[in-house]
Amino acid sequence: MRKDFLWGGAIAAHQAEGEWKAGGKGVSVADVLTSGTHEKKREITKGIIEGKNYPNHFGIDFYNTYQEDIKLFEEMGFNGFRTSIAWTRIFPEGDEAEPNEEGLQFYDDLFDELIEKGMEPIITLSHFEMPYHLVEAYGGWRSKKVIDYFVNFAEVVFKRYKHKVKYWMTFNEINNIFNPNDEFFSFVTGGLQYQEQENKQQVMYQASMNQLVASAKAVEIAKALRPDFEIGCMLAFIPVYPYSSNPADVLLAQQEMRSRYFYLDVHVHGEIPNYTKILWEKEKITIDLSEEEIQVLKKGTVDYVAISYYMSNTVSSQKQEEQGASYKSSENVVDNPYLTASDWGWQNDPTGLRYALNELYYRYRKPIMIVENGLGAFDDATNKEVIVDDYRIEYLRNHILAMKQAVDEDGVDVLGYTSWGPIDIVSAGTGEMKKRYGFIYVDQDDYGNGSKKRYKKKSFDWYRETIKGNAENLI
Ligand code: BG6
Repeated sequence: MRKDFLWGGAIAAHQAEGEWKAGGKGVSVADVLTSGTHEKKREITKGIIEGKNYPNHFGIDFYNTYQEDIKLFEEMGFNGFRTSIAWTRIFPEGDEAEPNEEGLQFYDDLFDELIEKGMEPIITLSHFEMPYHLVEAYGGWRSKKVIDYFVNFAEVVFKRYKHKVKYWMTFNEINNIFNPNDEFFSFVTGGLQYQEQENKQQVMYQASMNQLVASAKAVEIAKALRPDFEIGCMLAFIPVYPYSSNPADVLLAQQEMRSRYFYLDVHVHGEIPNYTKILWEKEKITIDLSEEEIQVLKKGTVDYVAISYYMSNTVSSQKQEEQGASYKSSENVVDNPYLTASDWGWQNDPTGLRYALNELYYRYRKPIMIVENGLGAFDDATNKEVIVDDYRIEYLRNHILAMKQAVDEDGVDVLGYTSWGPIDIVSAGTGEMKKRYGFIYVDQDDYGNGSKKRYKKKSFDWYRETIKGNAENLI
């Protein structure tokens, strides 16, 4: 493992901060999402409707409690912490010319606090929280105008925090916009909402290209400001396995991986891969992309690849009966009989992390940062002073060991590991509080009721010891 390995945790502004209107903040796409459950999807409302429960409005009140929370992260020995800048604190509507000073000041204070407590801030620019006004007025990322607004936002924050933040990511889970089975993710990732007769693929690819161009422009600006900035892309990396050795399954799995690799191929190589160009032609998809933008893509390539890793998917070329693996990145996904699933249907696969790291590193030869990994679970908090979350410890232990093997035995260059939700936060997918990832329990229910007091779970000590021993003690 690297000497400067970053150990820590990751959150996103909209899932933690709360105070959705404080300091001049505008409404983001996360602010129009109601609460859901595993069985009931979150509703995307047109604006805010009174009487509905919008959990991102309250988060866990991190806006007011960050000092106390960071103290707990310090106790666990974090030397890195990932969060995002809520775009709507800086540009409340997204298309203003001038930024909102109060929002900028909040992140100055937050980053100062992290640095003082020995943590490298690792910052995402866009994490499911674009200004809702950009959706209403421009149709989200389908519009090229949004490229300019994003680039302006990026430039403002790069300039402001250039002496405080070195590690950046442009878009969280950029590939989630491409989710023909789940429009929820196209909305949170790209602000997309479809008309009835519309060709969804056309819209998704255009929005994706707009984001990729915006990302490349941001990289160029950042590098001009401070050449030693580390700017990464970020993918939801769910490796796809073939269900059997049937060559048809193997080929299908390879083809399905392209919905991930397309984004990385552009981010890392600065080029649109041939398999995508052929698909566009076949599907009569026409992309508005100028020669100048093609050149921008070539120049604004990333320094490292960041991933979230929670699970793998398995695909079969034979139609199967409906099965339990509920997180389906395509309709060909079936249960992997060798894996168990979480209560939310995510199939746990630590070995898949080692596999993924190898695939990525030897395909792209860029350092990798694991910026999300964790287990969403129900915790029994009957006695809040003693929350025994052995299932979480087991999940994380196995994944950290798999990462270590990829580093020590396979030679993969991993920059750091920030587990998802080191403190319980609002779930992005379901809006629940009860889907908990934290080492720290937050006394709050799905409706924001509770004392909001923080309690250490059993995993708190375990993670502190893991970091202290640089994971050597896990073997
Ligand atoms: C990733 C997101 O998709 O997974 C996070 O980047 C999210 O924002 C995390 O919270 C876990 O998903 P969920 O739905 O359990 O919160």
